[in-house]
Amino acid sequence: MAISYRAWRDGDDLELLAIWGDPDNYQARYFRSALAVSSAGTPGAPWRRCIVAEDVVDGIAVAVGAGVVYEASLHTERLWAYIEVARDHRRSGIGSTLLRMLRAEASDSPSGVTRLRAKVIGETPGAAFAAFAGLAPIQRSRLVVVQPAALSLPVFGSSDGATGQGEDAGSDIVMDLATGSVELTDVVGRYYSSIHSWDSPGVISMGQVQRQFLDDLTGAHGALVLRARPASAFGAGVAPSRKGRIRAFAISYAEAADPQAAEEDSGPERPTDVFVGHEPDLDPTDAAEAVRDMLSLLAYQHPVMVEMDDSMTALRAAIEPLLAGGKATLAAPDTLIVAE
Ligand SMILES: CC(C)(COP(=O)(O)OP(=O)(O)OC[C@H]1O[C@@H](n2cnc3c(N)ncnc32)[C@H](O)[C@@H]1OP(=O)(O)O)[C@@H](O)C(=O)NCCC(=O)NCCS
Repeated sequence: MAISYRAWRDGDDLELLAIWGDPDNYQARYFRSALAVSSAGTPGAPWRRCIVAEDVVDGIAVAVGAGVVYEASLHTERLWAYIEVARDHRRSGIGSTLLRMLRAEASDSPSGVTRLRAKVIGETPGAAFAAFAGLAPIQRSRLVVVQPAALSLPVFGSSDGATGQGEDAGSDIVMDLATGSVELTDVVGRYYSSIHSWDSPGVISMGQVQRQFLDDLTGAHGALVLRARPASAFGAGVAPSRKGRIRAFAISYAEAADPQAAEEDSGPERPTDVFVGHEPDLDPTDAAEAVRDMLSLLAYQHPVMVEMDDSMTALRAAIEPLLAGGKATLAAPDTLIVAE
């Protein structure tokens, strides 16, 4: 092998695809899209450095590996990193050399941020390489499919005192909300911050919440909220004029995060990809109950897929018993977020 290194050029993605073949896993598939021409960092195009490793095959230079570091728009305390090497070129130090070069680039990042972060799948070469490179797990994330009717539907009382079950009951409690709603955007942003103490997203503006989770480009196409029962400030005899506070929310997306994995692991019906969260000021028991009720509504007739980090305590309280009882399944092996 005669390995040399150069900056990424347009067209390298196709050349590498031909050499690499299918990605090792769904995280590799996602991060391949981060390999792109280096950027000095402008609004909408974060700072990025991307390096290609070439070998000489029959006298011709052929790309065999690549690595990238780039600034994140959220979670700005670290840079994202991704490295991939062709299977027949692994374990000969190319990954380590790419990482060393990327670290040198990172030492000049305009923000001054140099620490790295990556996503790997447990028990894979990527995880072993991350450990070798000194990146330790800071979070585990699981893709879970909740099977239809895994949870019994909640019984909601309506403000006029009647009780009923399921989607049609409690119309002042379960509501559709436009994804552009300010009230929704606010609770989504505060929930997201509350579950990321392990890798701070910093102060998230309403615009960032919209761009990240809610606008059309994210694939978001509907939102459901579970509200507290509305109450009148003038006592039980007076009809409340305001809606109750949001306790839990769910945003559904047009495509499953990993349709292939979801199809393979959960039968023919493709689960809907949903982001479920709660008002972060709820006490833990209330939050767990709200999230459980929301999930029971979402997965009443059709499977849903959620990404569940270990830091999402309320979601875990609802889903871990389902995993143990076979009413929910893992759609993919665990992802580890590793960092320094
Ligand atoms: C991770 C990856 C880039 C490593 O590339 P590489 O060129 O094989 O890495 P190196 O040869 O520099 O390996 C450096 C060290 O990492 C560890 N390592 C790498 N692959 C390993 C494996 N399959 N099993 C155990 N340890 C491994 C070893 O300690 C190795 O040192 P050694 O060979 O002297 O024992 C490559 O396996 C890959 O492309 N995986 C798929 C994409 C991916 O998961 N990327 C990780 C996200 S950053």
